[in-house]
Amino acid sequence: MSTSVLSHRSLSNCTRHGNPRRACRVATHAKLRDLSQWRQEGSGTSEPAVAPELSRRAVLKLGAALPALAAALAAATPPALLLAPLPAAAEGPTLPSPAVAAALDKALAKNIPKTKTAVALRLAFHDAATFSAGAKDGGLNASIQYELDRPENFGLKRGWRIIEQVRADLKGTAAEGVVTDADLVALAGAFAVRLCGGPAIPLPIGRPVAAAARQDPPGRMPSENASAAELKANFAAKGLSVQEMVALSGAHTLGSKGFGDPVTFDNAYYVALLQKPWNNTKDAMASMIGLPSDHVLPDDPDCLPVIQRYAADQDLFFRDFSAAYIKMCGLGVAGWA
Ligand code: HEM
Repeated sequence: MSTSVLSHRSLSNCTRHGNPRRACRVATHAKLRDLSQWRQEGSGTSEPAVAPELSRRAVLKLGAALPALAAALAAATPPALLLAPLPAAAEGPTLPSPAVAAALDKALAKNIPKTKTAVALRLAFHDAATFSAGAKDGGLNASIQYELDRPENFGLKRGWRIIEQVRADLKGTAAEGVVTDADLVALAGAFAVRLCGGPAIPLPIGRPVAAAARQDPPGRMPSENASAAELKANFAAKGLSVQEMVALSGAHTLGSKGFGDPVTFDNAYYVALLQKPWNNTKDAMASMIGLPSDHVLPDDPDCLPVIQRYAADQDLFFRDFSAAYIKMCGLGVAGWA
């Protein structure tokens, strides 16, 4: 009797923790352990054994609550799943083992010289940014390989070639079969950031890839002519905050847009956004710095304080970029949110 009461009591924990089966198992096992301990302790004494948590009152109270608990559990979990093993996604994302990380580092270093860092980083954004939190599709799934002819992806064929070369170089290493093409897109961008002096981003692996030839829905990339309000709405639709948008936009410190050294990852982007060199009518070169979508950011009241913080504190920018990049590279991966 006690055991069944204990199990049901555990079920009440389940519904409270939002993960019925896991909470239930943990709680049930803990309770069963308590029970067997109580039996062992009780058997060796002349005193009647008493289980402190199982008073008559508690048993009656729990018994009365059982129908409601059973109904709540049935509503939360389809019956077939009650006996099924926990899905792999419940384990969450995992970091590469040292052997896999070493193989990755070698292949990435061979194929991403500094001259290709900007395109590698941009590739990751363009693969991930097709995600829609509302529609729950798109995201970083290597579908970018089927979308390279879209106008917004001009120039990224060169980026995808890096992924193909890295994949070929991983053959016969510890990373073969462990790291997907979607992981490689994410890892190539992170490697580019590190190679250029930016943060080392601890990226998990295990992203599924899109089915062959299956493109993500079009029309979800932000436009370079977007207003700040449009940019914020575009990122919000992907589940990214204003702060994350501003942090990720710091990627424009790499490449040809004129924010400092093109192959140094630093906070020069934010320093320039505050100076607004594009307003300098006397300097033709300075007026070319940045995209219209960069220019609108310092005039936006939500973006400005974030820009000011990153311009003043590069370490903070590195930390926030790292966190936002990890989030961006998990967009669309079920169970990683
Ligand atoms: C905020 C919205 C964004 C817009 C509208 C935008 C748009 C653009 C455009 C139009 C270019 C120029 C491409 C060219 O002419 O070569 C560019 C370059 C670039 N973008 Fe973005 N981007 C945005 C955010 C991001 C984010 C979040 C990342 C990465 C996390 C990123 C990474 C890059 C990089 C690295 C380049 C330089 C590419 C090169 O020079 O080869 N961008 N972006």
